[in-house]
Amino acid sequence: MSSESLPTLRWGIIATGQISSWFVRDLSLSRPDAKARHTIAAIGSSSQGKGEAFVKQWIPDVLPAPKVYAGYEQVYNHPDVDIIYIGTPHAFHKQNCLAAIAAGKHVLCEKAFTLNARDAKEVFAAAENKGVFVMEALWTRFFPLVQQLQRLVHEENVIGSVHRVFADLGLDQDFASLGPDSRLRNPALGAGTLLDICIYSLTWGLLALDAKVGEEAEKPVIKAVQTLFDSIDVASTVVLYYPSTGRQAICTSTAMFKTPDLFCRIEGTNGYITVEGVSASRPSAFTIYAKDEGTTEGKRYTVANPGFGLFWEADAIAHDIAAGRKESAVMPWAETIRVMEMMDEARRQGGARFPVDD
Ligand SMILES: NC(=O)c1ccc[n+]([C@@H]2O[C@H](COP(=O)([O-])OP(=O)(O)OC[C@H]3O[C@@H](n4cnc5c(N)ncnc54)[C@H](OP(=O)(O)O)[C@@H]3O)[C@@H](O)[C@H]2O)c1
Repeated sequence: MSSESLPTLRWGIIATGQISSWFVRDLSLSRPDAKARHTIAAIGSSSQGKGEAFVKQWIPDVLPAPKVYAGYEQVYNHPDVDIIYIGTPHAFHKQNCLAAIAAGKHVLCEKAFTLNARDAKEVFAAAENKGVFVMEALWTRFFPLVQQLQRLVHEENVIGSVHRVFADLGLDQDFASLGPDSRLRNPALGAGTLLDICIYSLTWGLLALDAKVGEEAEKPVIKAVQTLFDSIDVASTVVLYYPSTGRQAICTSTAMFKTPDLFCRIEGTNGYITVEGVSASRPSAFTIYAKDEGTTEGKRYTVANPGFGLFWEADAIAHDIAAGRKESAVMPWAETIRVMEMMDEARRQGGARFPVDD
């Protein structure tokens, strides 16, 4: 496909925090094998100065330079914007999504999509009414490495039937030093490890145990405990249990310890797979130890990643939108709801509450 015939998306970026800085850098990477073209038309920030500093720091060479606005409203309504990327804390995702949808824009919204499943359903209902594309930015599922692993596990059965998965994402967040307004400390902003990072451990449990997503996938039983600090969870352990087969996943998160590179083990009847990377959100390699290979040496797989790896989801969305689809087959609305419901149940058992729950 020549670069002229690739689908193109014109992005409007909401918020200029850490993940938005990664996203705009990935969108503007020069990638010879890119499957889509991306331009950044507009950026909205809480202040003009902050927005301009963001452009200067992270994408100074992008031409034409994106228009910068104080506030988000002009980005939602911008005539040169096809799709809004939402990089605010989770607690604002619902209102940001609803505003973008009301303006008739497609939406890619960071995880966790909302604070609970009820709010996620409200956003998807609005998207359905308006006929726009919406997706939760579960970028990890779009890594070619992850899709290759899923093919090997579910189609080629390289380790037989998968019966157990361990997945962990821990960060050393030095909680005591965080201010009360930090999105990691403030319950009104959706603080806690469950929605912030355990969502990736859950993703690994699910993608290793389920060949399917959304409504086609079985709903596991949830058993959860949480360690609370000022009503937010600083550690969560969520067990997924599938009564039909007895398979299990132990999905964990903590704010008190950085997980070593090897963050996941997938066990099957014919061997096991280890997955490594800087975190469960950004895998960089996996190794298959298959019993029937007759060797203790594993077979290692890697895929080149020239940036953070957020461009893969962006490329996939460009193709979905060009094809007129309103949701992604990789991360459909029903999968977001399935995972939000699991996290709602984990919080019900574990005790972490958000003001919006009441
Ligand atoms: N950081 C990561 O590695 C990562 C990875 C994947 C997903 N995510 C998700 O992305 C979202 C944002 O995370 P982040 O790490 O980028 O957060 P962050 O660095 O704190 O940035 C959040 C941005 O949201 C805007 N904002 C609007 N109202 C806010 C408020 N009351 N308090 C704080 N910020 C407010 C601010 O941008 P303006 O001032 O420009 O409006 C702020 O810079 C979260 O839902 C997170 O789960 C983060």
